[in-house]
Amino acid sequence: SSDHLRHVESMAQLPSGARRISHLNAVILGASLASEENDLVFPSHDFSRQALVSSPEQYRKMYESSIEDPAGFWSEIASQFYWNNKWDPEVYSENIDVRKGTVKLEWFKGGRTNITYNALDRNIEAGNGGKVAIYWEGNEPGDDGQLTYAQLLEKVCQLANYLKHVGVRKGDAVVIYLPMLMELPIAMLACARIGAVHSVVFAGFSAESLAQRIIDCKPKVVITCNAVRRGSKAIHLKEIVDGALIESVKNGVSVGLCLTLENKSAMKREDSKWQEGRDVWWQDVVPQFPIKCSVEWIDAEDPLFLLYTSGSTGKPKGVLHTTGGYMVYSAATFKYAFDYKPSDIYWCTADCGWITGHSYVTYGPLLNGATVVVFEGAPNYPDSGRCWDIVDKYKVTIFYTAPTLVRSLMREGDEYVTRYHRKSLRVLGSVGEPINPSAWRWFYNVVGDSRCPISDTWWQTETGGFMITPLPGAWPQKPGSATFPFFGIQPVIVDEKGNEIEGECSGYLCIKKSWPGAFRTLYGDHERYETTYFKPFAGYYFSGDGCSRDKDGYFWLTGRVDDVINVSGHRIGTAEVESALVSHPHCAEAAVVGVEHEIKGQGIYAFVTLVEGIPYSEELRKSLVLAVRNQIGAFAAPDKIHWAPGLPKTRSGKIMRRILRKIASGQLEELGDTSTLADPGVVDQLIALRDCQ
Ligand code: WTA
Repeated sequence: SSDHLRHVESMAQLPSGARRISHLNAVILGASLASEENDLVFPSHDFSRQALVSSPEQYRKMYESSIEDPAGFWSEIASQFYWNNKWDPEVYSENIDVRKGTVKLEWFKGGRTNITYNALDRNIEAGNGGKVAIYWEGNEPGDDGQLTYAQLLEKVCQLANYLKHVGVRKGDAVVIYLPMLMELPIAMLACARIGAVHSVVFAGFSAESLAQRIIDCKPKVVITCNAVRRGSKAIHLKEIVDGALIESVKNGVSVGLCLTLENKSAMKREDSKWQEGRDVWWQDVVPQFPIKCSVEWIDAEDPLFLLYTSGSTGKPKGVLHTTGGYMVYSAATFKYAFDYKPSDIYWCTADCGWITGHSYVTYGPLLNGATVVVFEGAPNYPDSGRCWDIVDKYKVTIFYTAPTLVRSLMREGDEYVTRYHRKSLRVLGSVGEPINPSAWRWFYNVVGDSRCPISDTWWQTETGGFMITPLPGAWPQKPGSATFPFFGIQPVIVDEKGNEIEGECSGYLCIKKSWPGAFRTLYGDHERYETTYFKPFAGYYFSGDGCSRDKDGYFWLTGRVDDVINVSGHRIGTAEVESALVSHPHCAEAAVVGVEHEIKGQGIYAFVTLVEGIPYSEELRKSLVLAVRNQIGAFAAPDKIHWAPGLPKTRSGKIMRRILRKIASGQLEELGDTSTLADPGVVDQLIALRDCQ
């Protein structure tokens, strides 16, 4: 069948010999090979022997069956969960080809289940009620807590009962704006238990961004806390929510209830601003509710959550995931990509405000009955050894993080790592952006003592779970490559015209057919869903990423090809930053591009044209940056503001970003053809102004 399979097949011949050398330091082996791409890093014999998928051959068999018989393959996995009502005989139906009508994806239609029931009650009934579900580690070392599966269920039920009491019903939206406290996964699970649709907003977003999301999904309740400590700073989250709720009212959306957790270690309730009638302290009400709550059985295709993400226009997209397929997919991908075993202690550093925290802090691991570490703090507080301190404290076996964190810790030096044992670690993971081979090697050699395979998982908010990922015991890895597709996934690389290209090649990464974890729509805008993802290359799902495939069939992600920048693994639309900049009264026009950044992967580089007569100054630069922080959040603050008296435009007025990208990255020799510009002179002017700020 597909191209990569032939390669995997040929690799299946390779192991006996390869396994013998696998005892050597794989990196030494790699160093003797000519190019980066040939740099194979083998899992150790011991690792592979105990792995769920332990050879290319085994992967090939499972992959083939997942492609030849998706219904059978996924039904078998789905059957491991509890379904109150079995799905229709037809396991899935799909139309992903816009030329044949509306794009519509359905999995396990007619089946009724509950993801919280499967994550908690089912595991407790299997005898794991006393197993730790969550280890919580606070910002301050020594500030910690834990909940067993049975205790977690009680907390979830109390909140679920409270939400029902205040009138939240199946299908109602609930916005959650919380830091990484245990109450964040508790709130998600409580919503899911009663069929409410949660929309978690990362607690680093500003009041404006939060308001935008509230206005879009009109929640019955907003759940937050009064404040949070991050590093040595306290952030007053409740005040941000207050601002957002005022803004929402101005736009006709009035939220009647703001359930606020008192986070005592950050701020006392007496010091918190309060609006009687609307605001309620979590601690005053939730603990009074019963610790048992009946389960609402949810249709497989009923919505589970909405998660807003950035696209190429200013308006964030409400990615909608449904219940059954997402449950099956997040659980299966977690299990195989991390080679999960019941004895593992798993830590994912992502915040639940992003998709990684949904699928791989909350749902995927808990559905597997795993013990999860939830960390509230910052990885460099009190110092850069914090992560490894936590690894040793909880004996973490699977550690999943982002390349930006790896790079920033790498810069601090090995001593922060080697000071700690890290003997418990057995699998490492990476997500959010391509991991550069040097960061990969440091992660592998220093953090993992050349012992732990790295699962470099490529996926997206839209895909719900891993799409291209190593199965750590199955085959040799190549530093920087996400390797091969997960079961059921058919990635293809297409050219400009949408033709599939075979073999060694580069192009646009698309996916053929649907998979259970795929998002079903953009909330309230199915047309945008089709236009953005299914129209660019008819017949395929378009990821927005560039990709190449090497001679061995390994996939190498090369980054976004649309107007999205990936800053420290956070997706930010250039249009969002531009609209924040032009909201500043002195900014007439803005054009934002991504540039390579040593730590963040990409940095934000903003060209701004000022209103006639306004001089550029350091003070103005600061207030422009502040405008972005206020409109979006601190994580989207531009790294560079480049004053641009004029922008390079075509005669029809279109900004030529290609040229701006070259100027931003200093590739001044490669500006290309500038003759089609309305005023080619602006290019020289921009270059001249490049270093004077
Ligand atoms: C990028 C995060 C290379 C990619 C899960 C994608 C990656 C976007 C990887 C989605 C990876 C994520 N290698 N690139 N392992 N993982 N990306 O929606 O550009 O926040 O399109 O989901 O991150 O970002 P999102």
